[in-house]
Amino acid sequence: VKVLAKDLFTKEYKDGEEVTIEGWIRTLRGSKKIGFIEVNDGSFFKNVQVVFAKADMEDEFDEIKKFPISTTIEITGALALTPDAQQPFEIHAAKITELGSSDVDYPLQKKAHSYEYLRTIAHLRPRTNTFYSVFKIRSIAAFAVHEYLQHHDFSYIQTPIITSSDAEGAGEMFQVTTLDLDNVPKTDDGKVDYKEDFFKKETNLTVSGQLEVEAFALSLRNVYTFGPTFRAENSHTGRHASEFWMIEPEMAFADMQDEIDVSEELLKYVVQYVFDHAKEEVQFLNDNVDENLIVRLQNTVSEKFAQITYTKAIELLEDADEDFEVPVKWGLDLEAEHERYLSEKVFKKPVFLTDYPKDFKAFYMRANDDGKTVAAADLLVPEIGELIGGSQREERIDVLEEKLKDFDLNPEEYKWYLELRKYGGTVHSGFGIGFERLVMYLTGMKNIRDVIAYPRTPGNAEF
Ligand code: 4AD
Ligand code: MG
Repeated sequence: VKVLAKDLFTKEYKDGEEVTIEGWIRTLRGSKKIGFIEVNDGSFFKNVQVVFAKADMEDEFDEIKKFPISTTIEITGALALTPDAQQPFEIHAAKITELGSSDVDYPLQKKAHSYEYLRTIAHLRPRTNTFYSVFKIRSIAAFAVHEYLQHHDFSYIQTPIITSSDAEGAGEMFQVTTLDLDNVPKTDDGKVDYKEDFFKKETNLTVSGQLEVEAFALSLRNVYTFGPTFRAENSHTGRHASEFWMIEPEMAFADMQDEIDVSEELLKYVVQYVFDHAKEEVQFLNDNVDENLIVRLQNTVSEKFAQITYTKAIELLEDADEDFEVPVKWGLDLEAEHERYLSEKVFKKPVFLTDYPKDFKAFYMRANDDGKTVAAADLLVPEIGELIGGSQREERIDVLEEKLKDFDLNPEEYKWYLELRKYGGTVHSGFGIGFERLVMYLTGMKNIRDVIAYPRTPGNAEF
């Protein structure tokens, strides 16, 4: 019978049972009379050990011994249970058939390759143990996010990819246009005439689905969007991508503290879920990528996260016995080095920073009574820095109108957003988790390019 490696490793089989598996050769070595193949069929992290002997196959034996790495094969043979060995079983092959040939110049040989090199072969890197693990965990984490939110009565709203409003008001958008670049139509005063464009107005790829999903929170109460977002920011770091996925829950009748509490619970749920459903992968990454991964994830689940105000954080950073590249000062945004210092050195666990200065936070965040800060909360985590950005939203229409002016944003463009306040507004809050940064946290990978199937960063859109 045809079986999957996953079943062989996790279910009961009888010694001597005849099985057939299909998969790819990961390693192969042979002597005159006997050979060993480690084959992976994709269903499980671990390889199946196959033993083949000249006595059982005569002529084919020498041909099989020459199969290059990554040859696709089918093996039929008897299962030999070896409970005391490192491998709990092996297959003694009676027949090995080539299903798809490979070549001796296969780029993934046994030696360890650099991540930089592997990025140039993004179509082949899923075949390495590291990337197998990363993308398995990425998939499991996405499922866990949906599961947590659905079980807590959050409705999944799919917000648009093409938009005509700037959700963050930061102007870091990729334009969507079908205009002929060599012959752009202009209005009388020399500006691009978007009336001639496909949508008859200027459109962009979304930077966040928040504003659109807020509209649904004011009807379905608890909602979320989870989809791709795009930022044309010229950041060359290991934590910024031009295309990334974001999880954005939004809740009516919830204030900043409610939003903080939900984000902590959600994060803990996802970490625990990955522990339970990707044991082999997490262990492998702990052994090969980040030796503190398991401890860090265990602490994430078991310890209450810390919480301080931005103002307090500035005090701690000013008192820090550390030479920061960028100095800290009340009123300036924090850099990754400051965020990491707080979570790694001061608290040694995830920490929420709240009540940031209003000037460098988005226009929609609720103004605090002090007139200087807003009800924003970022979660900073070890190894990464900012993982979550959230806030209570400004529900007072007059305050919001003023804010749009302060930020030089066109109230006409945000008319619909203001109407959410005009017609039955309420206290509401939400947050955004950068999904790739979450996967980095779950896997110990240090570069965002290595947790995205085909990363897009400034100057790079290969594949
Ligand atoms: O802090 P941000 O910009 O917040 C928002 O977009 C809000 N609308 C979210 C909300 O309240 N619904 O982004 C949220 C998170 C960040 O904390 C970070 O993890 C991630 O998205 N992020 C990026 N991840 C990868 N590459 C980038 N260029 C990112 N920019 C933000
Ligand atoms: Mg942010």
